[in-house]
Amino acid sequence: MSAEVKANVKKLTDELKETHNITPGLAVVIVGDDPASRVYVNNKKKACEAVGFMSEEYALPAETTQEELLSLVETLNNKESINGILVQLPLPKHLDDKAVIEAISPLKDVDAFHAVNVGKIMLGEYDFLPCTPAGVMEMLHSYDIPVEGKECVVIGRSNIVGKPMGMLLLHENGTVTICHSRTKNLAEVCKRADILIAAVGIPKFVKANMVKDGAVVIDVGMDRDENGKLCGDVDFENVKDKCSYITPVPGGVGPMTIATLMKNTLKACKLQNNID
Ligand code: GUN
Repeated sequence: MSAEVKANVKKLTDELKETHNITPGLAVVIVGDDPASRVYVNNKKKACEAVGFMSEEYALPAETTQEELLSLVETLNNKESINGILVQLPLPKHLDDKAVIEAISPLKDVDAFHAVNVGKIMLGEYDFLPCTPAGVMEMLHSYDIPVEGKECVVIGRSNIVGKPMGMLLLHENGTVTICHSRTKNLAEVCKRADILIAAVGIPKFVKANMVKDGAVVIDVGMDRDENGKLCGDVDFENVKDKCSYITPVPGGVGPMTIATLMKNTLKACKLQNNID
């Protein structure tokens, strides 16, 4: 599915080059040497190449100051060849990620993390969809899994996934519950779900006793198990026989997140150049 989305972005990008002589550009900023962030950033760069975008990587040392990072964001805001700016999170602890996100021009905020874009998503009239939740919705659409009237339970309330995920499900008339660390009777709540979305960041957290028979289970986790092996928030082997659908980790939601980022960058480029 992610290959299909990217192939479509490539086709539209080729057309844009042909008709307007414009190449979309994405700037990816990474601070420090978090190994997971490094993998994500490499994958984002590779995807840019595959769809024909120009990409620039800014790999800054862990000691980078807030002023230096804000100054880079400002330079990128003003750089015409750059249509999208992505600052990979998490940032080192001494940096204020909220201030950095707010410094990104909302027009170039291809993550849809800026308050302006978050507000637009709440109102249901957005330019950019947050990449991971939008990737999840695209999977549901592609498999003809209806959301309307369904019990949708999201585990996790982060600004990156949980909250916007709940909002997109709500826009499609799902009955949405967002669970978190203070939720009482979590297993019971999860067991109500027709569509269960795990975005909690705890390896193999979701077990069979939390899943209704026939549920659709979407795993947004990117964790390491006790042996250091990549795994999700769902105990896949334990849960898979109860589900009508389940996404694997790796190879499930992750590639869809990146495919959505490509769509957003193309959209940003078109908006900035007043092209429909
Ligand atoms: N860190 C984990 N997921 C994401 C994402 O989608 N965007 C950014 N910028 N950082 C992340």
